[in-house]
Parts: sequence; C-alpha cells; structure tokens
Amino acid sequence: MEKRDKIYEGKAKILYTTDNPDQVIQYFKDEATAFDGKKKGIIPSKGIMNNRISERLFRMLMDHGIDTHFVERLNDREMLCKRLNIIKVEMIGRNVAAGSLAKRIGQDEGTVLSRPIVETYYKSDALGDPMLCDEHIFMLNLATPEQLHTMRETTRKVNGLLTAFFAERGIRLVDFKVEYGLYHGRVLLGDEICPDTCRLWDMATNEKMDKDRFRRDLGGIEEAYAEVARRICEA
Ligand code: TMP
Ligand code: ASP
Repeated sequence: MEKRDKIYEGKAKILYTTDNPDQVIQYFKDEATAFDGKKKGIIPSKGIMNNRISERLFRMLMDHGIDTHFVERLNDREMLCKRLNIIKVEMIGRNVAAGSLAKRIGQDEGTVLSRPIVETYYKSDALGDPMLCDEHIFMLNLATPEQLHTMRETTRKVNGLLTAFFAERGIRLVDFKVEYGLYHGRVLLGDEICPDTCRLWDMATNEKMDKDRFRRDLGGIEEAYAEVARRICEA
C-alpha cells in the first residue's frame, strides 16, 4: 500500500489517496480548534492518542456488528480507511445535558436526559454547523429517508455500545458526534471517535476528560487525553 496525494485537509486530520482507489489514509494532527475555528491551539501528541483511541473504539464497535470505514492503524498518526463519500450531516448522540443542548433547553450541565437523544446538524463550516430537521435534510438532498434512518438507528446503537464500554472504564459518555459516508452504496460510520468528538466525564470525580478542557481553558488537556487512552487502550 502506497501513500499518494493529499485530497483534503480538515481542522484535525489530513486525508491522502493510496494506490487502492477504495482506500484512504487518515492522518491525525495535533492541531485543535473550537468555536468554528475561531480558537486555535496545539495539543502535543493529540494526533497519536486520537489515532489509538479511535482504533480501539472502531474495533469494539465492529466486534458488535457496526459497519465502519476502519481498516487498520498503520503507525502512530495514520489509519487506513475505506474511502467514503461523506454525508454532510453530523449526528450527535446525547445522554446528559451539556454544551449547546444545556443552553438550548435551559437545563444545568450534568442533568441526565429522560431518554438518550440523537440530533442532526449540517456539516458546513461556512454556516457554523447549524442544527437541521429531517425536512431540511431531504430538501437539501443531503441524505435519503432510508440513509437518515440507518444513520439515526446506528447512532443509537453506537451510543449504547460506547456508553457501556466507557462505563466499564469509569468514564461517563455525556455526548458525542459521529459522521457517516457512502461506500459503494452502503452507509458506513466514518471520521474518528475520540476526546475531540465526545464529552467524557470521570465517573468518580466528574472531571472533564475531553476537548472541553481546551474549549474552556481548564488546563491539563494532554493529561486528560492520555488518561482516556490509558483506560481504554490498556484495558
Ligand atoms: P455541542 O454541545 O457543542 O453541540 O457538542 C456536542 C458534542 O459534539 C460534543 O461531544 C462535542 C461534539 N462536537 C464535535 O465533535 N464537533 C463540533 O464541531 C461540535 C460543535 C461538537
Ligand atoms: N470542531 C469545531 C471547531 O473547530 C468545534 C468544536 O469542536 O468545538 O470549531
């Protein structure tokens, strides 16, 4: 397998083509951004930790029958993945009120939701990722009703699997964002799953172990990511 051209550079990752037209290399950077890129920083070794954490979580989900783009981790910062046509709808699963939901519904951060929910957002940096309802998604032709149904049901399953997996390691899964793409007509889970894309709270202390430490200037960011990596990759 040979690495070829850079095809996309996002805020946290770079994608490269390979000699196989169906596979890409996902390179994990240390750059971190928040608030639509308005806040920028570097979290040393973040890319290495997120590559390992994502690998562990993709493998666990695949063991439980979830279809994902993950093929293999190649080295510290690179993962081989199936090449997807990304669906421009970000799916957010939530168990506990935090972040934008806490603001939207006027509940304190930490309030356990009466039931887990899945929300849909437009993957558009230019628009600041606004929330979308199903009618918007169909009107914009972002996904078909069948694809959206698959994404929503898969996100609910992923929520259950991740919640149990993290809980066994003393971590509460507050919320998370996942993305999907099409691979020869099939909807596969793509992107990454890591402390950049989840809210993770220590079950014993309620300490934040995720990118909110960067967003809110709480310090101890690298240490928190390393602790997540230690608990999930070594156990
Ligand atoms: P929110 O409360 O800001 O809407 O975020 C919900 C979850 O989605 C949280 O775990 C962080 C994650 N997320 C991303 O991965 N990327 C984003 O651009 C945003 C806004 C949130
Ligand atoms: N990923 C988003 C950004 O770079 C926001 C976030 O994760 O808070 O702005």
